[in-house]
Order: sequence, then C-alpha cells, then structure tokens
Amino acid sequence: MAEGVDRVADRIARTDRPFTGVSPGDLAPGVSGVDLDRPLADPSAALDELEELYLRDAVYFHHPRYLAHLNCPVVIPALLGEAVLTAVNSSLDTWDQSAGGTLIERRLIDWTAGRIGFGPAADGVFTSGGSQSNFQALLLAREEILAKATAAVLAPGHLVAPFDSRRDVMDRLRIFVSEAGHFSVRKSAKMLGLSPDAVVSVETDARKRMRPQALEWELEQCRWAGFIPMAVVATAGTTDFGSIDPLHAIANLCAESGAWFHVDAAYGCGLLVSRSRRGLLGGIERADSVTVDFHKSFFQPVSSSALVVRDRAVLAHATYHADYLNPARMVEQRIPNQVDKSIQTTRRFDALKLWMTLRIMGPDAVGALFDEVVDRAAQAWVLLTVDPRFEVVTRSQLSTLVFRYLPPEGPDRDLADGANLYAREALAASGAAVVAGTKVGGRHYLKVTLLNPQTTVDDIAHVLDLIADHAAEYVERRRTS
Ligand SMILES: Cc1ncc(COP(=O)(O)O)c(C=O)c1O
Repeated sequence: MAEGVDRVADRIARTDRPFTGVSPGDLAPGVSGVDLDRPLADPSAALDELEELYLRDAVYFHHPRYLAHLNCPVVIPALLGEAVLTAVNSSLDTWDQSAGGTLIERRLIDWTAGRIGFGPAADGVFTSGGSQSNFQALLLAREEILAKATAAVLAPGHLVAPFDSRRDVMDRLRIFVSEAGHFSVRKSAKMLGLSPDAVVSVETDARKRMRPQALEWELEQCRWAGFIPMAVVATAGTTDFGSIDPLHAIANLCAESGAWFHVDAAYGCGLLVSRSRRGLLGGIERADSVTVDFHKSFFQPVSSSALVVRDRAVLAHATYHADYLNPARMVEQRIPNQVDKSIQTTRRFDALKLWMTLRIMGPDAVGALFDEVVDRAAQAWVLLTVDPRFEVVTRSQLSTLVFRYLPPEGPDRDLADGANLYAREALAASGAAVVAGTKVGGRHYLKVTLLNPQTTVDDIAHVLDLIADHAAEYVERRRTS
C-alpha cells in the first residue's frame, strides 16, 4: 500500500502535462496482452505493470492545463476519507452494515439541506452522481404526479378527469428543461418509461438561462394539448455555459402549474459554501428536490453526489422491504436503513470524504476554492473578448468559457468548424493541454471548464495561443490544398 501511495504521489509530482496524447490503439495491445489468469510475482511487479498500462498515460485533472470537463482536482482530506472508507468497506444500505457511517451520511444530508435553505422535513441520500440524482428526483416526481393524477387532484384550478391507468397518465407526462440542461434528464425520462417526446426543451436567453416567458408558454401549450406538466428541471450551473436559470420565476410557474420543481445544481452546488456568491442560488430553497455533485464543485473524488428533497415523505417512493435486509418492522423500531431512501442497495460510504473535508478544511475553504475558479473564468472571459482571434459565446456565471477560433479571412463557418475541431484534437494529441468541445447553433465551439484553483490566467493565455496556432495551421493547409 505504501509503495502504491508513493508511486502515485511521485507520478503526480512529476506530471508536467495533463495528458500524454496516447491513442486507444497505442494502449490497447498492452492491456489485452495481460494474462489475467496468471498473477504477477508480487505487488511491486503489478505496480510496474500499472505504470505502463495506466499511470503513465492517465488524464491528470490536477494539472493546471487540464481544462476540459467538469472534473476537479481533489482535496487531500477527501483522499484520506477515501482511503478509510474503502479499507473499512462499510455499505450504507443498512445500519447493520454501517453503524456510524449511516449517522455521518445523515448529518451531511441535513447540513446540505440547511445550506439549501430547506426546513426540518428535508431529507435525502448520497448517490453515485448527478445523473443518478436527477433520475431519482424525476422518479419521485413521476410517482407524486401519478398518485395525484389518478386521484384527479392536480394543481388547484386545474382539475383533470380521472385517468384509467398509470399508462394513460404516463403517456401524458411532460418534463420541462432548458435547451442548455443536462442530457441525463432525457435519459431519465426514457428509463422512467415516459413517452419519447416527454421532455420539452425550453428556450434560453442570450446568457443561456431558461426564459421564464418561454416556460410559461410551454406550460400553457402543454395544458391545451391535454398533457400533464410533471416536472420542471431548472439548472443551477449548465454544463456548457455555467448559467443559472431564474429559480424564483421558475418556482412561481411550478406552483401555478402543479409541476414538481427540481433544481439540478450538480455544478453550481459549490455556491452553497461561497461567501460571496451564495446569492446566485436564490430560490433554490423553493425546490422540491435538488441535485448536488460534491465531485464537481466541492473538490471531492468521484463518486460523491446527493439528492436532497424538501419533504422526506416523498422518498417513500423508493422504499421496498426485503426480509433478509430491511424488513418493515425495522421502520417501527426506528432502525435507520438508508436503503429505504435509495435506488441502490450496496452503496459506498462516499459521505466520509465530504465529512473529512469539512472537519479538516471547513466549508469556507472549499467555497473559497470555488470562488477562485469563478474569478479566474471572469478574467479569462475578458482575455477572450479582447482577442480578435476568437469569439466567445457568453459570460459564464460560473467557470466555463465557450468560444471559437475565427479564421482571419472572414466568416467561412465550415472552415471555422474544421479549424476548431482540428485544434482541439491536435492540442490533446500534443498533451500540452486538454480542452472540451461543444456545439452552439449547430456549429463547433471549444469549451474550457475551470475547476483547478492552480490554473492561472497565464496558463489560459498560453492555451489560447496553442489553440490559435493549431487552428491557423489547419486554415493555412486548407488554403494551400
Ligand atoms: C448540470 C449537470 N447535471 C448533471 C450532470 C451529471 O453528473 P454525473 O456526471 O455526476 O452523473 C452533469 C455532469 O456534468 C452536469 O453538468
């Protein structure tokens, strides 16, 4: 174990670029050539092999020029928690497999609910990630609306005739999410057995925030068509643009329409501990459910996420009793079994990482790290707006930048698409930096996500130069070919 820790620490200390640029074809023969039926002589040999197959070419999120997805470098207290939790190997499904672990998870859910601004009826559970949290939220929303719809009691003033069956209702359920919302909402709708067009994309404004007027219009259309507004998913920190939907306005429309109000704060949850930007989440306390991803803006190792609900009673939709595990009598005996609230059974004690982080660093220190990357993104946005080589889509409320290289020759959009796609690939292949890509209005853009407080403005300026060089090289080649 100590040798393994030393080797990883050494590798991380020596990493001078976020990626080696290795291709799947380069690495695959080594991995497939391993004879898994013949163990190596000792752990050192296994670590040597691992160095070749994984550590040498891994993508290192702690490197200041890893600027791609919503992956964070991790804080050391969380690593300590990770080591302890995997060694003890508690499973958080039942008290008899976790004991104090259950209480620690519950305390953290209460703490998070307090930060959100929920009252004493709130509850929740840790999950594997934002996708699972969103899925569970929509499962609860579906069950709530099904219970109401079959009893013919929708929102006050919107009485709908009783439906014959769950299937009848399910086909009519609609979920509203902004066009910049996360794809896990669509995936969840499919897994929940809703109709293929159950998810309605709501228009955003120039800063990529849901337009409340557009939502109001879509809700109206929904009613006219005889559909049922099941849920509105507001995003507090969209994946691409870091935009935060107007939570109060959306909460009002949910209250009027009877739709469940879910806030996907997978990315923006770091604001819960920010001393200067907590106000950006105003209205989150009116949600029925909230997704928080500690493994994004709380600098926790994967996985660490939670679903928090305003009213613990709704979690009963995820409750099943098994004689061997959590028989119903345990509820009367007040034995705290977290499996009663979770869609998982055996479940990691991920909460311990956040616990150690809060006990060693405290919430303000975590919030300060997040504030730092948000500040840095604002500085980088200024850089981009004054740089004629690039156009930038919008100023993020969090820490992303979506931009693209513009060929100096003029507005050839296909050429610009090609140049940006090429620049991203060439940059990754060089290993000097890793950035992401996305599409805006059908066109290819580049994306930088800042989650490393050690990334400096100079790092970003350097990466912009590299991107411009690669893109210009592509344009030149196209011009002369
Ligand atoms: C806004 C948002 N919601 C949900 C998710 C899904 O989270 P996870 O990857 O932890 O499943 C993401 C991931 O990037 C996200 O950005």
